[in-house]
Amino acid sequence: MNVVFLNPSGQIGGAERSLLDIMASLRAARPDWTLGLVATADGPLVPAARALGVRVAVVPLPETIARLGDGGASRSASLPRLAGALPAGLGYVRRLRRAVRALGPDVLHTNGFKMHVLGLWARPRGVPVVWHVHDFVARRPLMSRLLRAHARACAAVVANSHAVAEDVRGLAGGRVRGGVHAVHNAVDLDSFSPGGSRLDLDERAGLDPASAGTVRVGLVATLAWWKGHETFLRAVSLLPPDLPVRAYVVGGALYETADSQRSLDDLRALAARLGVAERVGFTGYVEDAAAAMRALDVVVHASTEPEPFGLVIVEAMACGRAVVASEAGGAAELFRPGVDALGHPPGDAAELARRIAELAGDAGLRARLGAEGRATAERRFDRARLAAELVPIYQTAAEQ
Ligand code: GLC
Repeated sequence: MNVVFLNPSGQIGGAERSLLDIMASLRAARPDWTLGLVATADGPLVPAARALGVRVAVVPLPETIARLGDGGASRSASLPRLAGALPAGLGYVRRLRRAVRALGPDVLHTNGFKMHVLGLWARPRGVPVVWHVHDFVARRPLMSRLLRAHARACAAVVANSHAVAEDVRGLAGGRVRGGVHAVHNAVDLDSFSPGGSRLDLDERAGLDPASAGTVRVGLVATLAWWKGHETFLRAVSLLPPDLPVRAYVVGGALYETADSQRSLDDLRALAARLGVAERVGFTGYVEDAAAAMRALDVVVHASTEPEPFGLVIVEAMACGRAVVASEAGGAAELFRPGVDALGHPPGDAAELARRIAELAGDAGLRARLGAEGRATAERRFDRARLAAELVPIYQTAAEQ
């Protein structure tokens, strides 16, 4: 079997971490299978996939399409942009088809909205396309229309959580021949583990070393507007001033889609307005997320919208860290509040502040949650599960 993945970026965000984990899992379970990847830009994803023995082609996406998206924009703003992108899109489909043909797939696995559509247009005749949906679709006006219109041509849908699977079913479930399957992401339990190197977060953030006994609390996320940076900074501003907490914003801008992210400068300005500039470090993008998490005592996930999955939550649990996560969407499927992580309602800075304060004052609680979190990660989020769940989906799609 030859599976070719299409990814609408060359960067490594959550959807790409998930993709690399799938590749690694398939490699281990099916060493005789051939894997290929077409990425729309050069970037860290390319060598990472190659290192797993995946054949990679880069077919650069024209700027007009790369910037297209409705994560934060309204329909009226997006449709004219879509029309404007059409001529470039047609040329792109031709180039993509050539690259896909050269890789000779039995199945195409598309890893993002743009590729779900472009992949169907570009596929060689008879090759089934499996969509891997990582985000809620129904709330995205442009993409939901496009996906519904193309769903009959798609062989099967993989969703990263039950919540996302439900969302896709509501939109187009009946149209997808091979059905909609929830497959939770997994993590590399060896790299995301309690032992290993730790980043010097203070140095990264240009701060003096924190004094002994300081509890390090960090939001680890891309700068997408819904990741809850504001909620986190507000929560920090509500902590008692004498609580020995230093907060970190770990992450930087990643994707090219227009209007979808905040800037570090905005966040710094917000921290200053809230009077917490002294208490917060901004590390920017970090390559080694595990080393950053191990340097934290508490990892915060604060998405203000229902999180489709929330890889960071599982990664931090696998690192044996105490986690406070926003309880909604797929994220709520990942942990048992009070047992292996703590929860807070999305966007509720006061509740988040209470959870952080509780953890900052109780090293025993942090240790208990960390140990339980690691056990949960080992039980439910081992990478080996990915191949076990995906292989039958690919096989059924290829036989259709
Ligand atoms: C997307 C989702 C995120 C998920 C990741 C991997 O980035 O927004 O919740 O963890 O994909 O599936």
